Amino acid sequence: MKTIKVGLGTCGVSAGGEKVYTALKNEIAKEKIPVKLLETGCMGNCYQEVLVEISDENGNDYMYGNVTPERVKRILDEQILQDKPIAEWIVKGLNAETEDTFFAKQKRIVLRNCGIIDPNSIDEYIARGGYQAIQRVLKEYSPEQVIEIVLKSGLRGRGGAGFLTGMKWRFCRQAAGDKKYIICNADEGDPGAFMDRSTLESDPHSVLEGMMICAYACGADEAYIYVRAEYPMAVRRLQHSIRKATEKGFLGKNIFGSKMNLAIRIKEGAGAFVCGEETALIASIEGKRGMPRFRPPFPAQKGLWGKPTHINNVETCATVPWIIDNGAEAFAAMGTENSKGTKVFALAGKIARGGLVEVPMGLTINEIIYDIGGGIHGGKKFKAVQMGGPSGGCIPATMGDLQIDYQQINKTGAIMGSGGMVVLDETTCMVEMAKFFLRFTQDESCGKCTFCRIGTKRMLEILERITDGKGQEGDIELLEDLADKIRNNTICALGGTAPNPVLTTLKYFRHEYEAHIRDKKCPAHRCAPLLTFTILENECTGCTLCARVCPAEAITGEKKQIHKIDQAACIKCGKCFETCNFKAIIKD
Ligand SMILES: Cc1cc2nc3c(=O)[nH]c(=O)nc-3n(C[C@H](O)[C@H](O)[C@H](O)COP(=O)(O)O)c2cc1C
Ligand code: FES
Repeated sequence: MKTIKVGLGTCGVSAGGEKVYTALKNEIAKEKIPVKLLETGCMGNCYQEVLVEISDENGNDYMYGNVTPERVKRILDEQILQDKPIAEWIVKGLNAETEDTFFAKQKRIVLRNCGIIDPNSIDEYIARGGYQAIQRVLKEYSPEQVIEIVLKSGLRGRGGAGFLTGMKWRFCRQAAGDKKYIICNADEGDPGAFMDRSTLESDPHSVLEGMMICAYACGADEAYIYVRAEYPMAVRRLQHSIRKATEKGFLGKNIFGSKMNLAIRIKEGAGAFVCGEETALIASIEGKRGMPRFRPPFPAQKGLWGKPTHINNVETCATVPWIIDNGAEAFAAMGTENSKGTKVFALAGKIARGGLVEVPMGLTINEIIYDIGGGIHGGKKFKAVQMGGPSGGCIPATMGDLQIDYQQINKTGAIMGSGGMVVLDETTCMVEMAKFFLRFTQDESCGKCTFCRIGTKRMLEILERITDGKGQEGDIELLEDLADKIRNNTICALGGTAPNPVLTTLKYFRHEYEAHIRDKKCPAHRCAPLLTFTILENECTGCTLCARVCPAEAITGEKKQIHKIDQAACIKCGKCFETCNFKAIIKD
C-alpha cells in the first residue's frame, strides 16, 4: 500500500500543514482511497513547506512541495490512484532540480530519521534501528569502553564550545560520588537557530537514546531535559516519547534487563538565553533564579543538587547512537583533522532556500550558501554570514571558501556555535547588525556581573548614537576598549562573548562604522536618520503618488508638475521611495 507523509514540525504546521493533513484525511475517507496517511517531522527543505512525501509499493519516494488543501485532490487522483507523478509540483524524487542541489551535499546523521518517521511512534523509531545502540552498549561494553568509542569518534559537543564529548563524559564518570545526573540542554536561545527544536520535534527518541548511553557512560541514574517552554510541540513529543519508552521498559528500573536504572524528566525553562549556560541551567532546574556562578567547581564535580553532573546539547545526544551503531571510525572518517562528523545548520536570513541542513564538516561556506542554499534571496549580493548567534560573529563573503571546522571558524573571530547560520545580503548594515545582537545580549544579561550588565549597555549606547548619525571620533576605539574589558571580566560566556558581533564587524567592515561616524552616511542605506530622499526632476512625472503616501505631508507639488521633498519635514520612512513607479526618487 502507498503511504503519504505530511511534514508536521513547527515549520510545516506554521505553513498550513495541519489543513493539508485534514484535507487529505477527509478526501481519503470520502473516496475510500486505499492509502496510509502518516504524520512526520521536519524534512529539512523548510522553504518549500507544506511538504508531502508519497512512497509507492516499488520503493519510490516522491516529495511534493508547496502543497495546499486545493492541490490535495489532484495529488490523490494522479499520484495515488493513477501512478502519475505531477512533475511540476514535485521537489524531490523525479530528479527535480532541488534534489541535485539542496540535498546532494548533505549527509544526514543527526537528522537520519527527521521527516521519515512519525515522531510520536516509538515503533517506527525501533523499525529504523532505534534503541539497538543502547542495548548493545549495555550488553557488550563497559562504561569506560563507551567513553573510548566516543573519544575515538572525535565528537565535539554541538552546543557551542565544541569540547570533546568523551572527555567530558570521563570527567563525570571519574568524579567522586555514587549519585550523578546528566542533563540534555535544549534551551536553544540563539536568534536564527532552530536545529535542536526540529530534532526534538522530528526524532525525540534519538535524543532519549543518546541520553541513555551518556547516563550509562557517566554512571548517572537520573536525567533532565531542559527545554524552553516556547517549544510546546517539542515538549509534547518528548513527554509522549518518555511515556512510551517507560511503558516498554526502556526507561525506569533495570533497563533492557540490565542493572541500569534511569529516569528522564523534563524541565521547562521560561526562555532566558542565560539559562543555556551550564551553571545557570542547573540553578534553574533547582528552582532558583537562572544565574551563572564562577567555575570551578565545574558541574562534573559539583552540579545539580551538589552532585556530579554532565550536560550535553540535543544534537550531541542525537549523534551518539549513530556512532555506536556505525562505529567511531565511520564518524571520524567524515570531516577535517580536528572537526569530525557532520554539523546541522539552521540556514536562515536572506537565503533562497532556507531550512535545516546537515553537512559533513569541511564543506565551505560557499558550498552551503550557493550549492545547498541556492544563493541569495532575490538575486542580491552575498555580504556576510552570521555564525554562532550573539556569541559569534560575521564572516564576510570574501571568506566564502573557508571550510566549516571549529578552528577555521574561530580564527575569523566568529564561532561555530550551535549552528545558526544567518545569511546577510548587500542591504544589511553591519553596524545595525552588531547593534541587534548586542541589544539581545544586553536584554538577556542576568545582571550578576557589572561588566556584562553595564559594559554591554554602554557599548549599545555607542552603537545607537552611531546609527542615529550622532557618532563621534573615538567611538570605535571606545567600543574596542569596552569590548576588551567586558571579555575579560565576566562570570560566564554570555558577557564574555557578547562583544564578538561588534568586534567581527569592526574587523571586516570597519569602513561602514567610519562612514556612519565621519560622513554621516549608511553605506547599506538602512539607518533612517542618515538617509536623504530626493526627487529627480528629470524623472518626476507629477503623478502625485509620493505626496499621497507621505505620512508627514513633506512632499508638495501640483499634478503633472515636478514634486519636492521638504527635508526638514521628512521623517525618512521611505514610503515615497517604495511607491514611486518612475524611479524618480533616490535614497542616499
Ligand atoms: C549564555 C550561554 C547560552 C548557552 N545556550 C546554550 C543552548 O541553548 N544550548 C546548548 O546546548 N548549549 C548552550 N550553551 C553552552 C552550554 O553551556 C554547554 O556548553 C553545552 O550545553 C554543553 O553541551 P555540549 O558539550 O554537547 O556542547 C550556552 C552557553 C552560554 C554561555
Ligand atoms: S553573569 Fe554571565 S557574563 Fe555576567
